[in-house]
Amino acid sequence: MKENDTGMDLFFEPGSVAVIGASNTVGKIGYKLMDNIVSGSYEGKLYPINPRDPEVFGMKAYKNITEIEGPVDMAVIAIPATFVLDEVEKCAKKGVKFLVMITSGFSEAGNIELERKVIKAARDGGMRVLGPNIFGLYSSRVSLNATFGPKGVKKGSVAIITQSGALGIAMIGMTATEGIGLSSIISVGNKGDLDEADLLDHLAEDVNTKAIMAYIEGITRGERMLESLRRVTRKKPVIVIKSGRSRRGAMAAASHTGSLAGSDEVFDAVMRQCGVLRAENLEEGFNWLKFIADAPLPSGKDTVIVTNGGGIGVMATDACEKYGIELLDEPELMRNIFSSSMPSFGSCKNPIDITGQASEVNYKDALLAGLESDRVHAMMALYCQTADFDKASYSEMITLIHNEYMRKHKPIAYSLVGGEEVSECIKELRSRGIPAFQGVYEMVSCFGALYRFRENLLREEQERVSIDTGSIQIGKIVDAALADGRDFLLSHEARAVLEAAGIPTPKSRIAHTIEEAMEAAEMIGYPVVMKIVSRDILHKSDAGGVALDLEDQEEVMDAYQLIIRNARNYDPHARIDGIEVSEMVHKGLETIIGARRDRSFGPILMFGLGGIYVEVMKDVSFRALPISRGEAISLLKEVRSYPLLLGVRGEESKDIEALIDSMMRVGSILSSVKRITDIEINPLFVYERGKGVKVVDIRIMVARDREV
Ligand code: COA
Repeated sequence: MKENDTGMDLFFEPGSVAVIGASNTVGKIGYKLMDNIVSGSYEGKLYPINPRDPEVFGMKAYKNITEIEGPVDMAVIAIPATFVLDEVEKCAKKGVKFLVMITSGFSEAGNIELERKVIKAARDGGMRVLGPNIFGLYSSRVSLNATFGPKGVKKGSVAIITQSGALGIAMIGMTATEGIGLSSIISVGNKGDLDEADLLDHLAEDVNTKAIMAYIEGITRGERMLESLRRVTRKKPVIVIKSGRSRRGAMAAASHTGSLAGSDEVFDAVMRQCGVLRAENLEEGFNWLKFIADAPLPSGKDTVIVTNGGGIGVMATDACEKYGIELLDEPELMRNIFSSSMPSFGSCKNPIDITGQASEVNYKDALLAGLESDRVHAMMALYCQTADFDKASYSEMITLIHNEYMRKHKPIAYSLVGGEEVSECIKELRSRGIPAFQGVYEMVSCFGALYRFRENLLREEQERVSIDTGSIQIGKIVDAALADGRDFLLSHEARAVLEAAGIPTPKSRIAHTIEEAMEAAEMIGYPVVMKIVSRDILHKSDAGGVALDLEDQEEVMDAYQLIIRNARNYDPHARIDGIEVSEMVHKGLETIIGARRDRSFGPILMFGLGGIYVEVMKDVSFRALPISRGEAISLLKEVRSYPLLLGVRGEESKDIEALIDSMMRVGSILSSVKRITDIEINPLFVYERGKGVKVVDIRIMVARDREV
């Protein structure tokens, strides 16, 4: 096996393809497939299979795939779903390696069992399956257009993976208009077997592919996909467009973490974590794809804007702030570089404003001055239409400048604002492969994507750690709760879990009598807090089951009686397991740490500020577990109110080290004890640096392994 072999070489480079359902009837998918394969000049052997016609497309047609003499690497299946299983079995007999299952009518139409049978038969027969319910695949390596999409796909270095077939076909059309060349386009459909991760693993190593775009509707094997994405984004840019920014599925959750962890929020955060560039829509995705596939990587972060209009210069500056682009800001240096190309009235402050009076020569000189300086790492060229704008000479000038920038491996893009003539000029430039845009934001967002890709390449991979959190002891606590028929831990059990994991919890004891309560309070030290412990009362405050700030024995006695009375009134049948007496924790900065098993991505961690107001403020972010220390830090920084942790208005900074330690420990508990489904610490008080953190309230949900 060769190095980096993902077992997918024959998928992208089949030496022979059979089309089951190849047809002479114009309008049938079996006809269109043959037409595309033949007119696309497929370099391997092609075998049409048809039970009626002895010839299809002028080629000998086989009634049965097993009649073919030579080997068949790939079979494309385009016959009705009811006949597919039989054909799959024949393919297995023939020793086919890959099936491309165009046919619809499987799980997407409710026929889950049929799909399962077909996939099983294929896998048992040693085959991998793309689809079903797809438009096929195009692979430039052997000029194979096994799709029923458009003909004449342009060869190039961009790979597209799409879950939507119809959109995929539209994307082939868009690549053609945008002049984007494809190394492959693959429709994954129902993902019965092969999915994005299988394809990404291969494309990461594919020398023909420089950039990848994926359109995703839903994730199946999320954890596996994240592993693939982490690997591939360190080599190539991966742009993802995901539809369905809905919060459905998160509503029934039992914790704050659950209700805040809407599918889109989690998806967005974990994609960022993996270095994926998530585009808002197809247009943005294609802009990025085209720009990144062609642009040289900047050697640093210092970007310069040259403009002949002050207004668009300001707009571009705003856009740079939005997309995190750093503008070179050294007045002396800028004067040295640009003053000679500047007309009077011009400004050498970034954005360099050569003003509306500037001639084309001034404009060209300014851009070339930026090219010559090693301190300028990337250039944004803005142009407002002027009275003497001449489309032809402007296009020539930009083409010349662009070639110079490409020759020197420095990225540049252009934004042109004006009327019809300017629009035509943009079209002309784009047809020459030059990144010219109408909108300033469109252009700047492309640089944003390029810089984020650069960061991925430079990112130091830290070890993602799972701390030993006493999982055996925790497992016993969880098992006892499950044996008791509960799907949650009582508060003293939850506290014991955190204690075992080394997370600071308040001193606490369970009392079953007034005497025990007074004894516990003496031992803990006043003031104390008392809370009802009952498997039937989850919302303790609502039941009047909480008493705070109890200063002495008398108050503890009164509180004990009151809490029991309130609980009885609230639910006369509630089983009371005791009263918890705890240290009254002094207030710190209120944060929330949550961890839960996400349906798509497995264990995830949430951090936020806001404590009881967290659902209103929604100032939270997520990471897929396990995480490295660096990822924990970036999770903290992503939250809007992060400056509160650094200390504002003269406050001392908070104990960020202790906070990170607790986050990593919570994450490790969830990663190592599979029967825990949710952990939420809310609030977790964070004190000043060196003074640590303290858990105030904990909620832990559990389930038997098979239910997780
Ligand atoms: N082996 C080989 N060929 C077979 C066959 C078999 N077991 N059974 C039938 N055929 C032939 C037929 O004779 C026919 O050829 P002909 O035109 O020469 O008669 C051809 O295969 C197609 O069969 P037919 O029954 O006419 O099916 P169809 O073309 O109407 O539909 C599909 C087949 C696969 C296109 C259809 O079932 C389907 O799934 N359509 C949706 C596809 C889709 O949208 N996919 C997702 C895109 S995103």
